[in-house]
Amino acid sequence: MTLIAQITDLHIRPNGLACRRVSETNMLAERAVRVLNALDPQPDAVVVTGDLADEAGEREYANVHALLSRLRAPVYVMPGNHDLTPRMRAGLSGFSCVDSGSADKMHYAVDIGALRLVALDSSVPGAPHGELGEQQVAWLDRTLGESARPTIVALHHPPCALGIRHMDAIALIDGQALAAVVSKHSHVERVICGHVHRSIVAGFAGTVLALAPSTAHQVVLDLGEKAPPEFVMEPPAFFLHHFTKDSGLVTHLAYIESFPGPFPFIFDEGVE
Ligand SMILES: [Fe+2]
Ligand SMILES: [Fe+2]
Repeated sequence: MTLIAQITDLHIRPNGLACRRVSETNMLAERAVRVLNALDPQPDAVVVTGDLADEAGEREYANVHALLSRLRAPVYVMPGNHDLTPRMRAGLSGFSCVDSGSADKMHYAVDIGALRLVALDSSVPGAPHGELGEQQVAWLDRTLGESARPTIVALHHPPCALGIRHMDAIALIDGQALAAVVSKHSHVERVICGHVHRSIVAGFAGTVLALAPSTAHQVVLDLGEKAPPEFVMEPPAFFLHHFTKDSGLVTHLAYIESFPGPFPFIFDEGVE
């Protein structure tokens, strides 16, 4: 059994500052870390699919570093549009994955239990949309060709439109190039992303595309043509990607806040 937890879009701020005046992202990320550390069984890894910091500031990355260092499981990160790859590398030195890839793109492949994680850098400095670039797409093709192990490809930006118009406008611009590579490699079990701050599942390039919700605020579910860019404090959550030989890769949504229960299934005798 291999278990990978995915958290995303932490949007960590300097101490004492909320995100967009409303979302207490630092406190909410702290709650996520506590829930992840209490998981039994522990995940084999925690993957963070971008937007770790909110403004890519030094003080923000110091907080990200302190927060992620307290996770019991090994941590793998990648930049989102709110991050800057060089600042993230400097701020998260000590996390081995941040030094991988080229000068401007952080990408790497790592075996985690029975799975392989291939992490991509879709960030574009100063821009909200995503782009992998030809070199990184070529690296992905070579890397996927090296191992037939069941693989999760992870990046921040979703590679296709998903129906929330203002987020579709800032998706990955070279999603077709990604699809062309992924469709060649049938052992890609999932493409996982963040960015949209919602749990979304779609078909993509012959595999399953899964977007995890944020540990903080979520984007309003509005599929209208003129959906305004707004967020809402829906319950924050994360994904648990669970792999067994018999069932393959199964993705579970797990909430961070607690709810009443658990209640046992008690059946009342004589009640129709
Ligand atoms: Fe985000
Ligand atoms: Fe984002």
